[in-house]
Amino acid sequence: MSKRQVINIGLLGLGTVGSGTLQIIQNNHDEIYKKTGTQIRITKALVRDLSRARSVSHEGVELTTDPAAVLNDPDIDIIVEVMGGTTLAKDFITTALKNGKYVVTANKDLMAQHGVELLNIAKQCQRNIYYEASVGGGIPLIRPLKHCLAGNKIKSVMGIINGTTNYILTQMTNEAKDFAEALAEAQAKGFAEQDPSSDVEGKDAAFKLAILASLAFNSKVNIADIYTESITEISVRDIMYAEELGFVIKLLAIGEESNTGLSLRVHPTLVPKDHPLASVQNEFNALYVEGDAVGEVMFYGRGAGALPTGSAIVADIIEVVRNINHEIENGIIETTFPEKPIVPMKDRISRFYVRMKAKDEPGVFGSVATAFGEEQISLDMILQNRRDYNVAEIVLVTHDVSEERFYRALDKIEKLGSIRNLSNVMRVLERG
Ligand SMILES: NC(=O)c1ccc[n+]([C@@H]2O[C@H](COP(=O)([O-])OP(=O)(O)OC[C@H]3O[C@@H](n4cnc5c(N)ncnc54)[C@H](OP(=O)(O)O)[C@@H]3O)[C@@H](O)[C@H]2O)c1
Repeated sequence: MSKRQVINIGLLGLGTVGSGTLQIIQNNHDEIYKKTGTQIRITKALVRDLSRARSVSHEGVELTTDPAAVLNDPDIDIIVEVMGGTTLAKDFITTALKNGKYVVTANKDLMAQHGVELLNIAKQCQRNIYYEASVGGGIPLIRPLKHCLAGNKIKSVMGIINGTTNYILTQMTNEAKDFAEALAEAQAKGFAEQDPSSDVEGKDAAFKLAILASLAFNSKVNIADIYTESITEISVRDIMYAEELGFVIKLLAIGEESNTGLSLRVHPTLVPKDHPLASVQNEFNALYVEGDAVGEVMFYGRGAGALPTGSAIVADIIEVVRNINHEIENGIIETTFPEKPIVPMKDRISRFYVRMKAKDEPGVFGSVATAFGEEQISLDMILQNRRDYNVAEIVLVTHDVSEERFYRALDKIEKLGSIRNLSNVMRVLERG
């Protein structure tokens, strides 16, 4: 067995993550050589616009707009896909695998929707796809779930896996900014895209949860099975009341396995202040995993950005290089997962937070309590404030109840003549 002197890499994309990857390989070249015994070189990069200024020196890297120049280059062993999108990226990765290349990608949209298909192609081609960077940026999540925690039956994975929404919610909490102001600031600082819909509507977190849940629960997870809610309805008043009741509001991605199947969801959640996830601020991400043997484990760090995401890409590249050097067969496990049943949301049990406006008159609260009582829902916490003239704001937290029964009670409450409107409803995380 002889080590390769040099292994060449072709990048598909030289934007944020591509530049971070190139920078790490330039800066840590000697360190990586000591670890692998191989010179790792990025020789070509596919881009859209050759005249665009790059944030990193790319001396020695041939920029091209021709995908074939990278994908068909016989001197390239590893293709790093950091261009994004699903259609072209899927075609290019397929071609790369068929050309005998190993693939590293940061593309969560692609891996969540077409990961099993692509991994099957990789298997047929006796190659592999590495995707540590697709979830949690620089935080190690994929490898721990695949390898380090493999001996556990995982009960739940729960996390803050979208930095944009966590930044917005942190600003709303700490600085009392409203949603629009916090979003504009996140955009100005580069934490949010100009079109923030995928982030604020929870879709980005759902893609990442699909990838994490597949590995955690050994199940093929379809993105359509993940219940998703946005953060756009959260107001500073909700944050203020949550604080008074002992919670912070976070967008959580939650996967749980029970006897009846998998429950997969992304929604704003009232998290008790003493829960480890409550202290995850701004653009930081964290994943809290519960295994039957290991107990609770939390992973924390920067979930995006050029260097953090590049750090995960370079780790994958190093793994490929080691595998090539040691002639290790790349056993792919993710294509053999069965599909497990999904627990319908209506059967989910949780506590709920409700904020509503009502006429400020005697008996209003009694009629609300009666509607809940008729569905055998008991109340854990109650606040009542006069909002404006003749309008009271009622905020309450229920004890555990199924979604079906809770929404049945809420229907009745909405029809009470004394209720002006239901301002917001959110789920409440159990205290640990
Ligand atoms: N940004 C992050 O922090 C982060 C974190 C985790 C994962 N990711 C994932 O990483 C991937 C890349 O994200 P990014 O932020 O680095 O994107 P980006 O800054 O927009 O860079 C995309 C790069 O791909 C090139 N490209 C795009 N479409 C192309 C096409 N059709 N033909 C040729 N070149 C094309 C662009 O060329 P030009 O430069 O010439 O326009 C650019 O260099 C995405 O899948 C994203 O979800 C990003």
